[in-house]
Amino acid sequence: MQNLLIVANLPSANTRKLVDAVLAGARHPDIEQVDVKFSEPLSACAEDVLWANGIIVGTTENFGYMSGQIKDFFERIYYPCLEQAQGLPYSLFIKGGLDGTGATLSMQKIITGLRWKEIHQPLLMKGEFQQQWLADCEEFGMYMAAGLEAGVF
Ligand SMILES: Cc1cc2nc3c(=O)[nH]c(=O)nc-3n(C[C@H](O)[C@H](O)[C@H](O)COP(=O)(O)O)c2cc1C
Repeated sequence: MQNLLIVANLPSANTRKLVDAVLAGARHPDIEQVDVKFSEPLSACAEDVLWANGIIVGTTENFGYMSGQIKDFFERIYYPCLEQAQGLPYSLFIKGGLDGTGATLSMQKIITGLRWKEIHQPLLMKGEFQQQWLADCEEFGMYMAAGLEAGVF
């Protein structure tokens, strides 16, 4: 059994839909050997990260940076996970209003320090909500879970 942790803030109806789509992909019925745990950032802790064989982090871009909730998550897990979680496969999804670059780069900078291993390029969604994003998010979640199950990361 592999463990996949998904941590994302969901401050709006749109972001909730995106997270639901990521979860639907990760929990695809054909993927039987992956235990998927979703946690909102303020509830997620270092033990969750140490439990995980892979992690997906999602954030909105706020003030040109990751959301405050995701920053708080990284602040709390950084040192407790620094040694033991090196090499953790991860991928990021970002929901911006018009941009998203700052949120992406700020997370990547922290994760460089953590020495996690990127397995999918960041999925960045910005501008007016597009139905296509739901399919993109589902595929994104499925990619991580299926890869963990197959042991390819
Ligand atoms: C306090 C605040 C700051 C924000 N700052 C940015 C920003 O710097 N760049 C950006 O692209 N969007 C920014 N946004 C927009 C959010 O990213 C957007 O509301 C979020 O992705 C949710 O999208 P939705 O409104 O489509 O549900 C900000 C939103 C809030 C509430």
